[in-house]
Amino acid sequence: MTTVEETGSLTAPASRGSCPFAPPPAYEQAREETPVTRVTLWDSSQCWMITRHEDVRAVLGDQRFSADANRPGFPFLSANRKALTTDSASFLRMDDPEHARMRRMLTADFMVKKVEALRPEVQRIADDLLDRMTADRSSADLVAEFALPLPSLVICLLLGVPYADHGFFQKRSRVLLHDRSTLEEIHQAQSELVEYLTRLAADKQSNPDDGIISRLVAQGELSPAEIAAMGRLLLVAGHETTANMTALSVLALLRNPVQLVRLREDPSLIRGAVEELLRYLTIVHSGLSRVATEDITVGGQTIRAGEGVLCILNAANRDESAFSSGADLDLERDARRHVAFGFGVHQCLGQPLARLELQIALQTILARLPELRLDVPFEDISFRHDMAIYGVNTLPVAW
Ligand code: HEM
Repeated sequence: MTTVEETGSLTAPASRGSCPFAPPPAYEQAREETPVTRVTLWDSSQCWMITRHEDVRAVLGDQRFSADANRPGFPFLSANRKALTTDSASFLRMDDPEHARMRRMLTADFMVKKVEALRPEVQRIADDLLDRMTADRSSADLVAEFALPLPSLVICLLLGVPYADHGFFQKRSRVLLHDRSTLEEIHQAQSELVEYLTRLAADKQSNPDDGIISRLVAQGELSPAEIAAMGRLLLVAGHETTANMTALSVLALLRNPVQLVRLREDPSLIRGAVEELLRYLTIVHSGLSRVATEDITVGGQTIRAGEGVLCILNAANRDESAFSSGADLDLERDARRHVAFGFGVHQCLGQPLARLELQIALQTILARLPELRLDVPFEDISFRHDMAIYGVNTLPVAW
């Protein structure tokens, strides 16, 4: 992965610089100098890269930019992402009206009020995990023992997937999200997950429960393959994202002790703090892809029909015109206009759940582990540069 080549042209994805929380320097430079610019992708194809907050919202909010990966010109970030998206289509990669029809079947499940009702249950899960983690030890890997199992347990509960199978789908999710997985591994993980979910959906016909998969089966509107594709999207998006955000947030707070103390002193800051951490860390880090369906001007540049566009969320979330001193973590700023959950019709469906889980996870950790600290030097932490969702592989902590 390179940044700015001798010719001055950019390749994407670009590498991060010395600060593992900051976007690649090449993206930040592009935002300041050439905010709508051509970049070269892994297969030598080119697309437009958009880095300013205002322009990213303009593209993602305009349905003339399609999210359909089957349209010619759609920019893929790696061979793996291409295999993954064309293998099994979920509504993430559909345009309206099909997208809206599918998404509508789930909107009630993720409405703020519905999700808030889960608060006591999510709190209980967080407490149980910390009870177990701290019972007879004073150090642990926070990813394995808390950050990952918390959202995993919650999404299993919502979908009606047995948590006993979490090892199976976590392993396959990892393969799907890893840029270094081989195409063969991707196809295999994909088909095993779809087979698993298709079997589960068939089983719900005779053994219904109150989970989402059972309800979709009972509604009878979707084919078993469509239910499996939807289940896969929710299962992968539901645990990998929040897990990485939780661990990375804890690390960012440990690196910003003044902010950490503020949050400990005033737990009422938690809602705003989570928004700021979402902005500052922007774990969907390699860009959202779209393709123009007609000629459209963005930031003064005409993008022709059939040309691909890559919206760089982490660059947009540090755009000074939207967030002053954007490079600083400031838990008391108003960060609500961030685009960490995307923008427009595809804006994250699970965001109320992600917010709830993050608020509870961080608040519980801070309240129960007042002596929390890193158990390895910061330099030894391994970041997930080569994963679709950014984070840390492990987070050894002591208390
Ligand atoms: C911190 C956690 C999360 C982050 C940062 C995040 C980020 C995102 C982003 C950026 C998109 C937009 C993709 C695009 O426009 O191409 C998205 C879409 C989506 N997310 Fe999340 N997400 C998170 C958690 C979750 C959770 C917990 C769930 C479900 C349980 C979820 C389910 C979805 C779904 C279903 C979509 C597709 C929406 C659509 O196409 O209409 N996400 N997410």
